[in-house]
Amino acid sequence: MSDFYKSLLKNNKKWVQSKLDLDPQYFKKLANGQQPPLLWIGCADSRVPANEIIGAQPGEVFVHRNIANMIVHSDMNMLSVLDYAVSVLKVKHVIVCGHYGCGGVKAAMGNQSIGVIDNWIRHIKDVYRLHKKQLDSIEDEEKRFDTFVELNVKEQVFDLAKTSIVQTAWKNNQELTLHGWAYGVGSGIVNDLKVNISNDQQLEEVYQLNF
Ligand code: CO
Repeated sequence: MSDFYKSLLKNNKKWVQSKLDLDPQYFKKLANGQQPPLLWIGCADSRVPANEIIGAQPGEVFVHRNIANMIVHSDMNMLSVLDYAVSVLKVKHVIVCGHYGCGGVKAAMGNQSIGVIDNWIRHIKDVYRLHKKQLDSIEDEEKRFDTFVELNVKEQVFDLAKTSIVQTAWKNNQELTLHGWAYGVGSGIVNDLKVNISNDQQLEEVYQLNF
């Protein structure tokens, strides 16, 4: 077995001990249940670890990650996470956190096929088509890439708001705000994209659901 693999289990033992040194009841308390105030939807990229970036402890953030932090409304995995977080845990905030240098977003800008993942990336290409005029007008490729990352996050925040899950919560006067962030893997800094949605009136009329 490789040294790397062995080190994982060793690290776990060390981590458990470090927590118990501070509080012998640490894990017993966590075992009692969770009530996180936040759902994080981020990219699967190894450089964007949800808890670490925001200094959150176990129990403080419910996490869903996929390639390029997408809200695909037929994705049963995402819908189940969202429904549990909003309807059962009653989180007050959902953050969609994209990141600069995202490989998924980069792939969506190009034409190279990379296999099955092309079909996932296609959802990001739809965002490009929606904002083609603005994106095509940016000559510098890095800047265009950065802007595409930001626009993709904003679209995903709106796609969250369009779900029956989020609109049902708002209809029930549940306090729930959706946010969009872009994280700098080369700086560690979060750029708050200032897209904060807390009611269905911020959606185009055709997406507003009556219950
Ligand atoms: Co990414």
